[in-house]
Amino acid sequence: MDDRKFPDGFLWGAATSAYQIEGAWNDEGKGESIWDRFVRCPDRIANGDTGDIACNGYRCIWEDIALMQALGLQSYRFSIAWTRVQPRGWGAVNQQGLDFYDRLVDRLLAVGIQANVTLNHWDLPQAIQDRGGWSALETADWFAEYAGIMFRRLGDRVALWTTHNEPWMIAFPGYALGTFAPGIADYSRAYQTVHHLLLAHGKAVQVFRQGAYSGEIGIVLNLTHHLPKSEMARDLAACQRAAEENGALFMDPLFKGQYPERLLEWIGTDHAPKIRLGEMGLIGQPIDFLGVNYYFTERVGFSEHGGLLKLFREPISAPGWGRTEMGWGINPSGLTAVLRDIRARYGDLKLYVTENGCALEDVPDARGFVADWGRVDFLRSHLHAIQEAIQAGVNVCGYYAWSLLDNFEWTSGYRPRFGLVRVDYDTMERIPKQSALWYRDTIDRNGLML
Ligand code: FCB
Repeated sequence: MDDRKFPDGFLWGAATSAYQIEGAWNDEGKGESIWDRFVRCPDRIANGDTGDIACNGYRCIWEDIALMQALGLQSYRFSIAWTRVQPRGWGAVNQQGLDFYDRLVDRLLAVGIQANVTLNHWDLPQAIQDRGGWSALETADWFAEYAGIMFRRLGDRVALWTTHNEPWMIAFPGYALGTFAPGIADYSRAYQTVHHLLLAHGKAVQVFRQGAYSGEIGIVLNLTHHLPKSEMARDLAACQRAAEENGALFMDPLFKGQYPERLLEWIGTDHAPKIRLGEMGLIGQPIDFLGVNYYFTERVGFSEHGGLLKLFREPISAPGWGRTEMGWGINPSGLTAVLRDIRARYGDLKLYVTENGCALEDVPDARGFVADWGRVDFLRSHLHAIQEAIQAGVNVCGYYAWSLLDNFEWTSGYRPRFGLVRVDYDTMERIPKQSALWYRDTIDRNGLML
């Protein structure tokens, strides 16, 4: 194999999520989500930004699909706003919302782009939150009902389905630290949330299998590469706890049918999730692929004051790399390590890298063009890291850049720009950056020029 080439059939895409791009937060029958609510709480979001308008993606979808086509994307990973389809999250369906996603998928297929649809990219209906959110058991059933609606409507055309995006982010920033929606700081609820998210995943997979749809279904996890602060036993153990909470807490139930015992012992019975008979089997039923979102590597050490896991984390960068605008380190080989580690622990799974990218200080010229060579270096190095994993036998089948567009970066608001394409938030004009042009050429040759 020419080592600059990717395997034939390697799938190239870009990703977005509903709340981050759509705007139209209460248009055409859409209900309120927990992010619609959270952004209105004082001091939660940098600069007081909200996703009310975002990139106006709900109105610009035709133009955005034309952009994807011009870049040669083969797959588009986007999410459904549950509250557009079911304003309360259960019961009544909003046809206008459902029609929007139907048109979107049709349009993608018409220009030769396959759909990778995420059902939950964090924007839970507020009405469900009011009844306990993810820490309430019935939410898993409502999720399965919603998933069924989407499968029935789009299941004849969607190639890849993702149940949840980054459940770790929902459970820990959302329910343990309270920094993300719904803003709850309670470790017991956080671990129960992990369990209910996994259960909801399992129930949705079950509905999918019963319908015998033609696509594939999986889940997307954010996986960090963790390195110990020192070789001292307490740092090594802290590092292991961080890695288990981030990875094994989700992958052990999904692929081995059990939670990681050591971690559950550490958090103790007060915090451990309540599990009922049959639930682990539901969670562990086979899936078709695992999506990996990789952004950074962290150094982890023991700290007496470091929360339930008693640890601290610091970003680290490989030599020669600085930090991104999020303050994250840059370490491409961490991606190789994460991918190889999955194979070593869980076997020969079909993997996609479903998000990877960086926010950098973009400086537009007079026409709005951004010569973001730093982002090109970032993408090239991470793609090379994937090639190394593939050469080591890991079955990585595709890559999605985060993100197609600059968009609403959650609590950081609009300042960090992750897009391949610049968005001028005054005019909503889309201007492809240098990285978009580079990505187009990379897709075209299915390989890197190193
Ligand atoms: C991931 C999220 C995505 C985006 C990137 C930068 O954790 O899935 O929505 O915000 O980070």
